[in-house]
Amino acid sequence: MCVKRFRNRFILPLLALFATSAGTAAPPAVIEACKACHDVDGSGVGKPYVPIIAGTPPVHIEEALYAYKDGARQCTIEPVMCDTVALLSDDDIADLAEYYGKLPRYSHATTFNEELVARGEAVHRDLCARCHVPPDDPDVADVLGYPLHGQRADYLRYALKAYVDGTRENLLEEMEEKIGRLRHGDVEALVHYYVSY
Ligand code: HEC
Ligand code: HEC
Repeated sequence: MCVKRFRNRFILPLLALFATSAGTAAPPAVIEACKACHDVDGSGVGKPYVPIIAGTPPVHIEEALYAYKDGARQCTIEPVMCDTVALLSDDDIADLAEYYGKLPRYSHATTFNEELVARGEAVHRDLCARCHVPPDDPDVADVLGYPLHGQRADYLRYALKAYVDGTRENLLEEMEEKIGRLRHGDVEALVHYYVSY
């Protein structure tokens, strides 16, 4: 009995340690500042406007965090996001990017319409595919844009409408030109295509 209690107390925590090191790395302590919205698994806590950040290559997560920090990207919907990021050190940013980037991106696909998916795929291939590839594409860290495939539908809709209306500044002229070529209904078709992934 005594031995058993000993084992439970000391062996189980050790086993848990091994389990952690064999799987994904433990999150950095600074994740406390993010998990209320993005959760520890990077898939978000269910708030529609919070993007999925799991599986976005670290280089793109860092780009996004620095863009919020220096004001190139604004947090129109959730000012707390920008207030939080403003306090991060360069090391915090590197650690968080590394941690979230290594996590798997689970599909959050709700329902999508096959016809819209086909239309969205055609638009994507024509205008967007050069810079936006799926998260498991071998070139994902090297292309200019973030992976949009498997992103949350509400977030994509919000971000795309913001570019179209001009409430979100386009950081690249080439993307601005492509967004300008979208026809009525293309935004919804693209959303269906990306979430169907
Ligand atoms: C209060 C909720 C909230 C907190 C806290 C928060 N975020 Fe965010 N995050 C958001 C929202 C909302 C957006 C989308 C903002 C926008 O561009 O309008 C976002 C965007 C992002 C993006 C850009 C993703 C993309 O695909 O463009 C990254 C990366 C990110 N957050 C990481 C973090 C990290 C790391 C922390 C902790 C230091 C953090 N966030 C804290 C809500 C939050
Ligand atoms: C020349 C490369 C390029 C092209 C072409 C391009 N994008 Fe982008 N896209 C980017 C870059 C770089 C960013 C990140 C910059 C920023 O934060 O504004 C981005 C950001 C985005 C975002 C925001 C992602 C997020 O997580 O917040 C969406 C949505 C998006 N692009 C959709 C599109 C769509 C749809 C097309 C085609 C109609 C397109 N892009 C064409 C490079 C490109």
